[in-house]
Amino acid sequence: MSTVLITGCGSGFGEALALAFAKRGDNVIATMRRPETAPASIKNLVAERSSAVTIAALDVNDADARRRAVDLALSRFGRLDVLVNSAGVGASGSLEDMPTSTLNTIFATNFFGPLELMRLALPVMRKQGSGRIINITSVASLFSTPFMSAYCASKQALDAASIALDIESRSFGVRVAAIVAGPFKTGLPAKSLDIAPSEPYAATHGHFKGVFAELEKHAAEDLSPLVKTVLAAASEANPSLRYVVGTDGIPFIPGLLKALEPEQIFALRLTGQQ
Ligand SMILES: NC(=O)c1ccc[n+]([C@@H]2O[C@H](COP(=O)([O-])OP(=O)(O)OC[C@H]3O[C@@H](n4cnc5c(N)ncnc54)[C@H](OP(=O)(O)O)[C@@H]3O)[C@@H](O)[C@H]2O)c1
Repeated sequence: MSTVLITGCGSGFGEALALAFAKRGDNVIATMRRPETAPASIKNLVAERSSAVTIAALDVNDADARRRAVDLALSRFGRLDVLVNSAGVGASGSLEDMPTSTLNTIFATNFFGPLELMRLALPVMRKQGSGRIINITSVASLFSTPFMSAYCASKQALDAASIALDIESRSFGVRVAAIVAGPFKTGLPAKSLDIAPSEPYAATHGHFKGVFAELEKHAAEDLSPLVKTVLAAASEANPSLRYVVGTDGIPFIPGLLKALEPEQIFALRLTGQQ
């Protein structure tokens, strides 16, 4: 039985993952910004398994709340085996039009918050001699699209940190994996911090929005492949650096991953681990 701390459990992947880890018999700290608006599924879970599942308030941009969430895992269950960074926020708009405050929110939520949680979890896991950190990145961590520069950059930053941390912490028994997810139907688009285009970008942005809306229509309803992938990343003896899921509609992903294959060998050699 593992103790699992998950961010962004108020909807989407985080909610589905909290339910799945609990079903597997793990202890779960299901965190979200506003526990008072927790989905019924999570409230029911807590009612059924109150000794093993708890809801905790965590805005990933709040340093005190991050510390409290990790402390809660330790005080309640005595350890922290798995951290899943699922909380995230989308944004679209031209880089020129994007307010600095939006850029800051995207990077704080999708990169710095998860990064600081990893930095809190790492010493705990290092002392335990084991631990797993799972970061939900995105296909946007492998390539960039126009009008999504901030989101892509934040996910690419998270991918870079995941890979580096995995190599840095392997000898302590701590492994880090990035989940490169394709499009799934969740609460993400409705909460996306979208910025209307100024006149010079109106035509290209309009075209982008049309193509993107079409892609979103075909996003997968069933989150179970994502859940299965995360459970595998959390429990496989020798996890991959990246797990790809839901990307069948993007034909060039296998080529990008193939090109990245030497990365791990290079990183292990750099640290004398191969
Ligand atoms: N759905 C996709 O197609 C897709 C594809 C690739 C990657 N992803 C990534 O998957 C992760 C989960 O997203 P999702 O698709 O499940 O969308 P979602 O349903 O919107 O879930 C994201 C959750 O993050 C929470 N959140 C936002 N800002 C937060 C903060 N500062 N602190 C704590 N929680 C915060 C949101 O809670 P509030 O209700 O409080 O805003 C929401 O519950 C994200 O990192 C996203 O980038 C999604």
